[in-house]
Amino acid sequence: MGILAIETSCDETAAAIIEQGTLLSNIVLSQKIHEIYGGVIPELASRYHCKHIYYIVCQSLSKAYPDLTLSEQLKKISAVGVTHTPGLIGSLLVGVQFAKSLAYGLNIPFIGVNHLYGHVYSNFLSHKNLSYPFVCLTVSGGHTQIVFVEKELDYKILGETIDDAAGEAFDKIGKLLGFPYPSGHLIDKFAQGGNHLKYEFPIPKAPLFDYSFSGLKTAVMYFLKKQDSSFIEDHKADFCASIQHSIANILWQKFEMVYKKYNIKNWCLAGGVSANSYLRNFFKDKAQQNQANFFVPEWQFCTDNAAMIAYVAELKYKQKQFSDLSLGVSAKCEI
Ligand code: KG4
Ligand code: ZN
Repeated sequence: MGILAIETSCDETAAAIIEQGTLLSNIVLSQKIHEIYGGVIPELASRYHCKHIYYIVCQSLSKAYPDLTLSEQLKKISAVGVTHTPGLIGSLLVGVQFAKSLAYGLNIPFIGVNHLYGHVYSNFLSHKNLSYPFVCLTVSGGHTQIVFVEKELDYKILGETIDDAAGEAFDKIGKLLGFPYPSGHLIDKFAQGGNHLKYEFPIPKAPLFDYSFSGLKTAVMYFLKKQDSSFIEDHKADFCASIQHSIANILWQKFEMVYKKYNIKNWCLAGGVSANSYLRNFFKDKAQQNQANFFVPEWQFCTDNAAMIAYVAELKYKQKQFSDLSLGVSAKCEI
């Protein structure tokens, strides 16, 4: 029997089906409408989820069970999982209400899933050999966290950002460079072949294992103000490569402190920013130097998707951790 999962926490409308850890379908619709506004417009995101969710769920059912009718496909589903926190309230509500109605109509369990658990556990979708305990650095557009996972469905936050998330740093710096939103993947692309040591930026200060990124954005802003108008075009590769190196270096500094304190040998990256080719190689090299095992999800599971939500929903299903139909949504992370 399959677990159907839905993800609508931000600007991706996504549905996936998993059976005993095997992914049968993974459909993601990224809302392009926000590009022209330079960031996600919450009201538009909810409207687009509302418009597309039914078709995305149907596509995911048809991909998983191709030769069956819709009612036959639905009989294959034993529970419905959905992201209920953290995220944009209006966006979360669309997914949660759809999932509740479906579960109620089919008389099967309904399972609320924390989006950040999804990112962390997305590593299992790509690496069956990942074992507990492990430490995961989740770097996304909305969050930057170092998490210690001792056993299944465990989640202990050791450090997190006190201001911007790493993805926000990429997107805001991209905006200063004149790139469209989201700009992380563009900085990655333009950095290819660039000299990552050409421009140096200060490492922002934050307590213990926490991060800060807002100072980097400000430093880049003041630096660019002093350059002439052709600077970005003339030095794009070196500048983008240096930005990536600065962000990777900031992320590594606190991760290294955690690693040294707890001596955990299984390291994971997760979240949209973990798709960054420089960051992946940077952490891979550091892991090799420290004789640690390094895991990072395949690209398709780094950015928001429902496969990761399905993975966690199936773990919760096996432990009979079902949610009540009165479950609410929450913009802030509820662990
Ligand atoms: O995990 P995600 O899809 O959404 C949230 O949960 O926030 O992460 C989106 C973030 C955006 O900030 C985007 O710019 C960044 O991931 N991102 C990247 C890359 N691909 C996506 N950042 C750097 N390099 C990339 N290749
Ligand atoms: Zn995410």
